[in-house]
Amino acid sequence: MFWIPALLLVTVTTGAQAQATAQSSVAPELRECYLNTTLLDRNNLPPTSMAVLIDIIRKLEDNPNINLDLRMLATQILHTYRQDGNEYHQRSTTTTESMNVLPYAPTFHSFHRHRLVLRTIPSNQQTLANTSLPSDLKCALHHMISTTVDARLRNDENTCGQLSQYRAMRTARSIDDDVEILDLANLDADINGQMQNSPDVEYMGRRFAQQLLGESTCPILTGVVNTRWGAVSGGNLLAGIAAGSERQQVSILELTKGSELNYQNVQQSINSIYPATLSGDLAEAVLIQGTRGSNSISVGNAGNWNSSQATRFYMLSGRTNIEMTDPEIRGGLDGFFLGTTLSNTLGTFSSLRLSQLLDMYYSPVNGVFNPTLRACNRRELSQQYIATTNLVSETRAFAAALDTVMLLEGTIIGGLDNLVNSAVTNFQSYTNNNLNDLNCDNTATTRVDTQLRTNLYIAIDGTWPYQTVYPAISYLLDAIEVGKFGSSITLLSASDGSVLINQTFSLADFHTKYTSALHQTFLGNVNLLSTYTTLNSMMKNMLTIESSSNYVGGNATVLLFLLNSGNIENNQNVFEQARILNDTAPDLRVLYATSSNQQDNLWNIVRDMRNDIMTVALPSTGFNVDVALRQVLTSIQTVGRRIINPVCGADFVDQSSGTRQFVDHITPGYINYYKLSPNYFYQNNENTKVRVSRSGATLGNLIVCHSRVLQQPRQSRQNTTAHGASEQEIAANCTTLPATGNVEIFLFNACDDSMPINACSPLYLSVEATETATLNPICTSMNNCRFPFDVAYLIQVEELRCFNSGTNITASHVFLFFGLIINILRFL
Ligand SMILES: *[C@@H]1O[C@H](CO)[C@@H](O)[C@H](O)[C@H]1NC(C)=O
Ligand SMILES: *[C@@H]1O[C@H](CO)[C@@H](O)[C@H](O)[C@H]1NC(C)=O
Ligand SMILES: *[C@@H]1O[C@H](CO)[C@@H](O)[C@H](O)[C@H]1NC(C)=O
Ligand SMILES: *[C@@H]1O[C@H](CO)[C@@H](O)[C@H](O)[C@H]1NC(C)=O
Ligand SMILES: *[C@@H]1O[C@H](CO)[C@@H](O)[C@H](O)[C@H]1NC(C)=O
Ligand SMILES: *[C@@H]1O[C@H](CO)[C@@H](O)[C@H](O)[C@H]1NC(C)=O
Ligand SMILES: *[C@@H]1O[C@H](CO)[C@@H](O)[C@H](O)[C@H]1NC(C)=O
Ligand SMILES: *[C@@H]1O[C@H](CO)[C@@H](O)[C@H](O)[C@H]1NC(C)=O
Ligand SMILES: *[C@@H]1O[C@H](CO)[C@@H](O)[C@H](O)[C@H]1NC(C)=O
Repeated sequence: MFWIPALLLVTVTTGAQAQATAQSSVAPELRECYLNTTLLDRNNLPPTSMAVLIDIIRKLEDNPNINLDLRMLATQILHTYRQDGNEYHQRSTTTTESMNVLPYAPTFHSFHRHRLVLRTIPSNQQTLANTSLPSDLKCALHHMISTTVDARLRNDENTCGQLSQYRAMRTARSIDDDVEILDLANLDADINGQMQNSPDVEYMGRRFAQQLLGESTCPILTGVVNTRWGAVSGGNLLAGIAAGSERQQVSILELTKGSELNYQNVQQSINSIYPATLSGDLAEAVLIQGTRGSNSISVGNAGNWNSSQATRFYMLSGRTNIEMTDPEIRGGLDGFFLGTTLSNTLGTFSSLRLSQLLDMYYSPVNGVFNPTLRACNRRELSQQYIATTNLVSETRAFAAALDTVMLLEGTIIGGLDNLVNSAVTNFQSYTNNNLNDLNCDNTATTRVDTQLRTNLYIAIDGTWPYQTVYPAISYLLDAIEVGKFGSSITLLSASDGSVLINQTFSLADFHTKYTSALHQTFLGNVNLLSTYTTLNSMMKNMLTIESSSNYVGGNATVLLFLLNSGNIENNQNVFEQARILNDTAPDLRVLYATSSNQQDNLWNIVRDMRNDIMTVALPSTGFNVDVALRQVLTSIQTVGRRIINPVCGADFVDQSSGTRQFVDHITPGYINYYKLSPNYFYQNNENTKVRVSRSGATLGNLIVCHSRVLQQPRQSRQNTTAHGASEQEIAANCTTLPATGNVEIFLFNACDDSMPINACSPLYLSVEATETATLNPICTSMNNCRFPFDVAYLIQVEELRCFNSGTNITASHVFLFFGLIINILRFL
């Protein structure tokens, strides 16, 4: 007998069992996810990625009616939106669909574990109100954290094999894997469409034989969230965090409500973090595979998304031994580490948000106040945190509890210990040998260290097939980090410049709007004249708004034409509109990505005709979008954040800015780039300058670089002693920002004003926070700090002025004309 004296045994009879998600029918608030045909089609819901999950959690955190700290929010999300095991039940051909019956019920095996786990993570609160999230995001969240398998035949099974880029990583399984057809554990009762509602023991029976014969060889696993470090089960992840926030011992007898245990010698109580993460799935595997007669318990089942962008459908590579799939292993591990360390984490920063915790852990650097506590380090963490003896005894105890509520294909009358040992051993070897996710070294070498804050406008035409253009846009949005602390996206029509999807900083909102049905309404033709005319008034409007709100800078603006039509009409009128746009919005970078080469056609309306017009071959399947868009992404990434004189507005009547400033933030290990156009310092003024200083008593090492040549000046990482200073170092003037004081950049005599403005190069500036081992939680503003260890700094401008080429149109034209001729000659 085990006895844990130090911890209180917690009464679990209150709270949890009242939760609708623990009942054996689809929870009332979740029913519309299965009833409404729009919501039922996952293609209409946002992709299941970590960025979208974080976005939805932020919406809950920012909701003024929900005032919950990290611990309570994790628990409430679990109780409100997680219901594992919901399955569709095929009707016989002779029964007609009844309006009174929803053909879904929580009959998949994961439901039983889920129900017990909810009891071990009690909540004293009401569940979150039905109005907390709009229906589509509610359903998206539900599907991201609720584990179930949809085994219906889809008739695309022939393509499943092609998905398995991870095939090689799979464990060797028995040869009959792919031929097993009768999955008796999944048999259900429902011949008459009646759902059984008995609270503790599910009635299970026989599924129609024809349905089993027609089951998919690569069923869809839901409850899976895509990350760079492998697909993770969102339910296990959140449950681990929720359990970790109230770490407690739960009495087995109370958990099973006094049911007689089938096994002797199990510990009296369990630590709630185990069933929430690892022992829950292990116990399922032990009971289901064990009662089928296996002596060795198979752990791990690989799979893949059927699209590498906008991931929505995770398809398992096999349909047997699916109790502890790869995503469940990863989610279980991650939840276990985050839950186990949670009290420490909150000790470091008590007002940490759930969204921040996830963002920090699934991040290429820094981690949860500790660079080792990161998803890329999962394998090492499992060795550090998981004690085999504990996992074995916890799994044995939870298996005993789970056995009291699950109907199985046999009764274990001996040998449980061997089954549990086998499961734990196989789990450990699978984790060490088969989960070949991106490790921290490779993460470091492949990461991008610019944090973009770009207002991206994409002008598209409706001749793109949705299946082609949607994954491309989705890829770009992920890469530029559309989000509360990052970039925004606005979708425009290339037919007339009208707004198709309004500016949003929310990935979830954008994806919810940009459905195939909406895409069908987009006009097919491209009309640059009309588009530029609209853009001109839009940008004018934006500058006027910025002027009245005294915006000094902080975001970059890029307009990307993503065009599929050929024969785009360009003429003198278009050129004139493009020139006006260039003049009014000097910081707007216009890029073209076209499916056919348009260089000869569009060269005169872009700034840099060699680089700003790109031909992209978008794959029709959505795979390898990253390769096709590499150059486009690089071009977007090199556009610096603006620094402006807000007094100029759209008219550029020359007025001094006086002294103005804005505060920006940087995460250790990252660099922010800025650009100040000559339109603000063209004519000499000895007081024109830019100053960078710390904002408040901030810690951390900040390096400020500036250049008139390099768009992205930064301190060289190369050792230059041997070969002399690198070219980059000569052009980039870098200074370490002292603890007090500032870096000042003087812009007197910065332009030769006998030349037109266009001939004067901008000032490029960067602020870098070098990676440090100590991550101080100093950034507490929930609206400005993505991470608690972000460092704030101040950018100050003095006596910026306003110039545009309005008065010098003739001069610019002549210059432009000659410039182009020369460039064209070079092209030939
Ligand atoms: C929750 O809200 C949706 C949409 O407003 C509504 O259709 C549904 O009936 C509500 N569910 C409950 C249980 O109130
Ligand atoms: C189904 O859900 C969509 C998206 O939330 C909503 O626009 C539509 O009104 C719903 N339909 C019904 C019949 O409730
Ligand atoms: C992925 O599979 C689902 C389900 O069969 C299907 O609806 C969706 O269109 C597929 N997506 C892609 C990109 O093939
Ligand atoms: C700049 O970006 C931040 C978020 O990254 C956003 O809150 C702010 O509204 C943006 N400002 C402008 C003028 O686009
Ligand atoms: C965009 O938002 C504005 C106000 O924020 C609204 O007036 C306009 O109708 C919206 N446009 C579209 C296309 O949704
Ligand atoms: C826009 O301005 C840039 C310099 O800022 C210049 O190189 C380019 O030629 C201009 N393009 C047009 C269409 O006026
Ligand atoms: C740079 O050179 C110095 C002195 O030769 C050496 O100590 C240091 O390790 C080198 N750093 C790197 C990054 O190579
Ligand atoms: C580098 O910038 C600082 C600050 O603007 C300036 O004082 C210094 O002269 C510059 N150094 C060079 C080599 O340009
Ligand atoms: C216009 O260009 C001339 C030289 O071409 C220059 O002297 C003058 O200062 C410029 N004016 C403005 C407002 O840019």
